[in-house]
Amino acid sequence: MEPLYGGGAHRRTTILDLAAAKKRGEKWVMLTSYEQMTAEIFDEAGIPVLLVGDSAGNNFLGLENTIPVCVDELIPMVRAVVSASSRALVIADLPFGSYEATPEVALATSTRFFKEAGAMGVKLEGAHIETIEKLVACGIPVMGHVGLTPQSLHQLGGYRVQGRSDGDVILDAALAIEKAGAFAIVLELMSAELAAKITAALSIPTIGIGAGVNCDAQVLVWTDLMGITKNPPKLAKAYRNLRAEMLAAATEFATDVKNGEFPGASQTYK
Ligand code: KIV
Repeated sequence: MEPLYGGGAHRRTTILDLAAAKKRGEKWVMLTSYEQMTAEIFDEAGIPVLLVGDSAGNNFLGLENTIPVCVDELIPMVRAVVSASSRALVIADLPFGSYEATPEVALATSTRFFKEAGAMGVKLEGAHIETIEKLVACGIPVMGHVGLTPQSLHQLGGYRVQGRSDGDVILDAALAIEKAGAFAIVLELMSAELAAKITAALSIPTIGIGAGVNCDAQVLVWTDLMGITKNPPKLAKAYRNLRAEMLAAATEFATDVKNGEFPGASQTYK
């Protein structure tokens, strides 16, 4: 099996590649992407998994949180990310209200993401065991998500570290999600110790966000990674300061136009 990074094969990552990476102890990353340009760039960088997350709500759609995000808003984003990538496994996040009612509802929503947008898997929050079983039985790879599940923000009382007193409940949920057939699971906002315990107990890869260094993989919201987010959470690391770069570029452009310096000779047609 080719390693996830630096492999010669020009093909998309599969869930089998991720399972093999866990077996040989190779760590990998997932990034969010909501449109063409970041999908092109992250695919070129060899990021093996792109998540069209409902974090689009507060990072792309101008919403306060992920709860109002609709399937009809995410479908064009997934289609763009699939079209703009050729190597990444592209996962569609099932938004709040689009999957919880019954396994059949979840199947209908997931089918839309597969047929209308080309998604290669779906992610859903919480231990919806029968739903995961149904989707997997129908050929839809499922990524689980436990710990802080932002769609339950109001039930949880805010963005709080999870599992402080009930770590075993989260461990049991993760084990049940694995047993139901999920191929990977996001562990969000929990102690590094709990995430390490879950990672050791599961044979599917764990993908951490605010869950310490011992997860099999790590995920970041791309705007946090690039330093675009105005008030980034503690769990994020900005690897660049693109907010400052973009601010400077927009300001310089406006100044150049005011001063008659743009367009210059090289941007002008004869
Ligand atoms: O929506 C999202 O981007 C996510 C990741 C942060 C895991 O759920």
